[in-house]
Amino acid sequence: ANMTMEISPNLTSCHDSYGRPDLLVNCCPPLSATDDVAIDFQYIYSKSSKLRVRRSAHHLDTTYIAKYTKALTIMKSLPYSDPRSFSRQALLHCTFCTGAYDQKFSSATIDIHRQWLFYPFHRMYLYFHERILASLIDDDTFALPFWNWDNPDSMIFPKMFLEGPFVDSQREPSHFNKVVDLNYNSYTVGNASGEQEQVDTNLAFMYNQVIAAAKKPELFMGCPLYPGEDGYCDGPGTVELAPHNTVHTWVGLSSNPHNENMGAFYSAGWDPCFYSHHANLDRIWDVWRDIHGMYLPINDTVWLNSYFYFYNENLQLVKIKVSDVLNTKELGYTYEETDLAWLNKRP
Ligand code: C2O
Repeated sequence: ANMTMEISPNLTSCHDSYGRPDLLVNCCPPLSATDDVAIDFQYIYSKSSKLRVRRSAHHLDTTYIAKYTKALTIMKSLPYSDPRSFSRQALLHCTFCTGAYDQKFSSATIDIHRQWLFYPFHRMYLYFHERILASLIDDDTFALPFWNWDNPDSMIFPKMFLEGPFVDSQREPSHFNKVVDLNYNSYTVGNASGEQEQVDTNLAFMYNQVIAAAKKPELFMGCPLYPGEDGYCDGPGTVELAPHNTVHTWVGLSSNPHNENMGAFYSAGWDPCFYSHHANLDRIWDVWRDIHGMYLPINDTVWLNSYFYFYNENLQLVKIKVSDVLNTKELGYTYEETDLAWLNKRP
């Protein structure tokens, strides 16, 4: 028998879903696309084109910020019916992160967190988001910035997100001027007594999450998820658990029931800083790969062949596989090198 074993969404199955057990949400797109219109993903990058460079949000010049401001303003002005619009981009996170779709080859739902599709799914999401922004300003070199929260000079919430289209009213204002706590949870607020202590704690924590506790792929990437009735292996990778989850919670407004927007899966995509938070996670995937030499982190056909659908900048529905996104240079982008201050911060 030729059994299909990938994880993939059934695009016509969108239904209400739970962002949290006590919270019913519906984030289905207005018209369900069908997969028969999808085109296969193709690399646009060729050796002669210049790699787009994602830069640290703390060190952007005003021209760069102006470009992003313009692109995001246009994106926000597009109607909800347009899949390139900011609202539809934001809802993508809700649909794939709260179980709005059933799987194509199993009746289980899809939730791309807390398992091995976490990194590849978010890489695809940011890739298309970035290409759409670039096309809206007709600037092929445009690349998303990353919030370099693991770097001592960038642990404070990036100022650029406090202005223009980057503002989100649902953030915790008392955290804007503080060094982020990468291992934050609301029950242990204020463990570190001062800024320098928080920076040091963060660096030691990074060492643990990327190096000491992440020596095997399943520890860093998350548990293997196979199509099946339960469809949820629930074993997040080290960095997904923290700083990923913790920075989400730290940014969101703590008087909201679930620290929305950033603190909850269904609402996180509405905060423009989400995309820079995830660009840093995407960068750290490559850092982990280089440190541990895991260029093919998981050699498993279920993982490699699992696929998703995204609209591209030309409004085409694209089918893209995990194996398409293992090398960012083939996708046409790279990251500005920044200091990995935690590399030798063995606790
Ligand atoms: Cu899909 Cu930061 O989460």
